[in-house]
Amino acid sequence: MIAPVTETSAVPLVAVHDLARTFDVSAPWLNRVLERKPRQLLHAVDGVSFEIARGQTLALVGESGCGKSTVARLLVGLYAPTRGQVRFDGQDVHATLATRQARALRRRMQMIFQDPYASLNPRWRVQDIVAEPLREHGLVRDRAALRERVAELLRAVGLSPHDMTKYPHQFSGGQRQRISIARALATQPQFLVCDEPTSALDVSVQAQVLNLMKDLQRQHGLTYLFISHNLAVVRHVSDQVGVMYLGRLVELADKRTLFAQPRHPYTRMLLEAIPKLHAIGQARTPVQGEVPNPLNPPGGCAFHPRCPHADARCKAERPALQTIGGVRVACHAVQEGRI
Ligand SMILES: Nc1ncnc2c1ncn2[C@@H]1O[C@H](COP(=O)(O)OP(=O)(O)O)[C@@H](O)[C@H]1O
Ligand code: SF4
Ligand SMILES: [Mg+2]
Repeated sequence: MIAPVTETSAVPLVAVHDLARTFDVSAPWLNRVLERKPRQLLHAVDGVSFEIARGQTLALVGESGCGKSTVARLLVGLYAPTRGQVRFDGQDVHATLATRQARALRRRMQMIFQDPYASLNPRWRVQDIVAEPLREHGLVRDRAALRERVAELLRAVGLSPHDMTKYPHQFSGGQRQRISIARALATQPQFLVCDEPTSALDVSVQAQVLNLMKDLQRQHGLTYLFISHNLAVVRHVSDQVGVMYLGRLVELADKRTLFAQPRHPYTRMLLEAIPKLHAIGQARTPVQGEVPNPLNPPGGCAFHPRCPHADARCKAERPALQTIGGVRVACHAVQEGRI
């Protein structure tokens, strides 16, 4: 009997397993020797696992410094993992980028950054910015085809083909992010990693760009990793939400469940800080405390200094991410049924 062909759509497009990345932030060697300082390693991401199904959006949230951008960069191969693995459509990303298949893989995943002004070359015209990936990947035959494709991409993101000859500074922040999106779409990728794509924009402009991203996702069946420090933004765009704290996932749930019934005390703290629509006039609770220094993280549960439910076990023992009621959560109190 012939073995059935594996249904590729059954394989998640993105599968991250036990991903970790440390940075060596030691003082220079001579200073270390003279000042008798030890080597210092910063665990930016430590043991993160998740999957993203085709056409779906996973949002990663957490305060600044929690390791979100490092995860983003690991996913698209801008950083090598210290431990663990990223699989894209079944292929190990890091291993593949060292082979002749690297270009084909790069074409399938693109990244959009927070500050389009920093990621768009200010000296280039829009046509060159958007055309660069088309040229790099040899996706157009001649100049006429190139112009036609750039015009098509600009129209797809709500800009005019007449904008082609302008420079980035001639656009508003929201329009500049549209240019970055057009450029990211040029290679017809399947997966977009969006690192705080709207965080630098005004609220009303933010909504327009988020709507555009949702429309493009529907039209092209795109899969997104969407990063934000703002849970309110995540509510509009995600299917699944992962909450990160000091390099680790503390909760991973589908969006509806996470917003209706947050389990981890950190998720609850972030949610309570969002102004509630139907509680006008009711004061929101600002996020309490600060993220500890990642070079000297608290022992046990890293969240314990800020947690109202911390007990002796929390200070001594790090909670593992466990599945409880269909939600993945790393908290002793939840696991013990205390909260
Ligand atoms: N290239 C790097 N070298 C040293 N430390 C880094 C580097 N990139 C990030 N970090 C550190 O790793 C931690 C996580 O950073 P980052 O992934 O940028 O978090 P986020 O995007 O959630 O704000 C922070 O403490 C940051 O200072
Ligand atoms: S493990 Fe303990 S300290 Fe950590 S979030 Fe849960 S209750 Fe709070
Ligand atoms: Mg970041």
